[in-house]
Amino acid sequence: MQTNIIVATNNIGKATEIKHFFGPCFNVLSLSDISIDVDLDAVEDGDTFVDNAIKKAEFVKDVLKGSNYRDFLVLADDSGIEIDALGGKPGVDSANFLGRETPYAKRFEHILSEMDDLPVEERAARFVCIMALVCPCDSIHTFRATLGGYIAYEPQGEQGFGYDPILVVPQYNKTTAMLDIEQKNAISHRGRALTLVLEHLDCGSKL
Ligand code: IMP
Repeated sequence: MQTNIIVATNNIGKATEIKHFFGPCFNVLSLSDISIDVDLDAVEDGDTFVDNAIKKAEFVKDVLKGSNYRDFLVLADDSGIEIDALGGKPGVDSANFLGRETPYAKRFEHILSEMDDLPVEERAARFVCIMALVCPCDSIHTFRATLGGYIAYEPQGEQGFGYDPILVVPQYNKTTAMLDIEQKNAISHRGRALTLVLEHLDCGSKL
């Protein structure tokens, strides 16, 4: 039987990576696929990735009650980038860092100027992802994974989304924006957290 999952996000970049990860053997639908228009930004007012992932998952689960999707699993992702030289910022505020509407090019300029010419050893950073999974019985589980690397000296790459152009991963010596979606999912915080979700669901063999 196909596993039915609703991805609780308005972020197209995340939804694309999550759908690609699960592949055609899963029925993975985003909120826009089912014409649900909710402002998840307003929901994520917690202090931690875990709080926000749970808030988003539970909020969408509630919205789906009484709909045709009430028996679907609901999966929410809260994620961001932590930069050691900036005391862990932007962290949980990654989406809103310097203002939600601020273009990423401007955010990169700011981050790179704050880090000036710090040597590679002092440019450590990581993407963090928490996946919150709510089952039809309302039980909730969270899964955490990270992808470590260092902040580039200049943005590079066109793929992915968000801060991808400035995180260099040692595995490839490239930014994650220079990786295709398969390469990124194989090593990323999101891909690894999703692997934990699959192990939990015990359906890895379907991939
Ligand atoms: P939120 O989980 O909706 O609070 O937003 C997460 C934010 O973190 C995104 O809007 C991006 O700015 C950033 N982010 C999360 N995951 C990634 C990633 O895989 N690549 C680049 N940026 C990311």
